[in-house]
Amino acid sequence: MENSLIVLILAAGESKRMKSNHSKVCMKVAGKPMIDWVLNTSLSLEPKSIGVVLGHKMEEVKKTIKEFPVETFVQKKLLGTADAVKSAKSLLERFQDGDVLILYGDVPLISKDTLMNLITKHLEENNSVTILSAQVDDPEGYGRIIRDKQGKFLRIVEEADTTEKEKTITETNSGIYVFKVKKLLKALTEIKNDNAQGEYYLTDVVSLIKGKMGILEIFDPYEVIGINTRAQLAKANEYVRGRINEEFMHNGVEIIDPKNTYIDVDVKIGKDTVIYPMTFITSDTVIGKECSIGPNTLIDRCKISDNVQIRYSVCESAIISEGVSVGPFSHLRPGADLRKDVKIGNFVEVKKSVLSEGTKAGHLSYLGDSTVGKKVNVGAGTITCNYDGIRKNKTFIGDNAFIGSNTALVAPVSIGRGSLIGAGSVITKDVPENTLALGRARQINKVGWVKHENKEEEQNDR
Ligand code: UD1
Ligand code: CA
Repeated sequence: MENSLIVLILAAGESKRMKSNHSKVCMKVAGKPMIDWVLNTSLSLEPKSIGVVLGHKMEEVKKTIKEFPVETFVQKKLLGTADAVKSAKSLLERFQDGDVLILYGDVPLISKDTLMNLITKHLEENNSVTILSAQVDDPEGYGRIIRDKQGKFLRIVEEADTTEKEKTITETNSGIYVFKVKKLLKALTEIKNDNAQGEYYLTDVVSLIKGKMGILEIFDPYEVIGINTRAQLAKANEYVRGRINEEFMHNGVEIIDPKNTYIDVDVKIGKDTVIYPMTFITSDTVIGKECSIGPNTLIDRCKISDNVQIRYSVCESAIISEGVSVGPFSHLRPGADLRKDVKIGNFVEVKKSVLSEGTKAGHLSYLGDSTVGKKVNVGAGTITCNYDGIRKNKTFIGDNAFIGSNTALVAPVSIGRGSLIGAGSVITKDVPENTLALGRARQINKVGWVKHENKEEEQNDR
């Protein structure tokens, strides 16, 4: 992009309309904080520098954006958008021969292409300021663009300051502008706060700018959606998710019911994978080809290979290899590493455990802090007792071992390869290879011990 461009993002506002204890710019659209959307798009323009103005819930925002190469500025009192720009005066002064693109932290969906068009127009027309305006169906809450009869720009009027007639105007201010830095600095010294909200409006600066001004009008209302309320947040999410799903379908992913499928923006999914309804795939999850995912499944931060089936389950930070089957009703917790063709079934929880190729845990188990070999059969109800109240202890199970149903493996403990554990055992000592281990009370049968006075009556009672 043009060499002399800098970007300034306003993110100090109080988020009053969100009714939240958090900064709204940290709220997520399709799994990514609004401010990150704006920063990613800003970076794609390759500007000389990016400044972010912080104020309300500053520490929270700082933490969210800590990976981004930006300079931050503090707006001490939240006196309005023009005052916010003033807080970054030192940045503006450093680049006073250039141009500055102003973005709002709560307008996250603006595209690189639109910004490029705006900047190009600004430079080609040699404007002092160029505004991005948008035609929207429901202009409520936005500043309106007031033009004269010839269509020439006059000013921007904030919602709170509009007359009834001005309220019907559907051309709105996106909050995105490019200024010649010098002209902006000059106009900022003249700004007043004589309006309904008693704030210093950046929109008033536009009218104070000396020199040529231009407007780029766009017709995609979603790109410039300003997120002030929970309802607008939901609307933006709905729109973005729709777009994400469409793109996946375009690339060969089958989504049975796109309206009820929630996929975050950084997720990757391979061809011919089928996603069933009520499935949430979040963060930076990667899913391979030919998988079957859902219904009613949550997958967060997982790496999933090809030909995997996951039904009615929750999977968090797990690695799932080719041919694995999970669910129904399984819970993979962080550190679950399921190797090729592993099967995890009904009500099985796995945490921080490697299950090697071909191992099966079909029913009602907890496997935590364990290393399980190949082709192990983990019987129904097997529990690794990994926690002794102080420490988490490890369980090792060798290849081809067979763990009988309802076994408690009291860690630290190790089961040798090929060994067999009798059902109902409590195993507290290591078991060598190819060994039968029984850790349960011996059964006693007392024949004839039960006396029945009237056999027929008793049977009827059953
Ligand atoms: C603003 C515009 C309005 C436009 C709309 C587009 C002004 C005066 N109005 O209204 O014309 O249609 O955006 O979405 O600019 N902020 C600060 N410091 C402050 C106040 C706000 O940094 O003192 C930041 C906020 O964090 C936010 C952005 O500026 O990211 C916009 O502020 P907001 O209060 O949401 O302005 P709107 O009323 O939406
Ligand atoms: Ca806003």
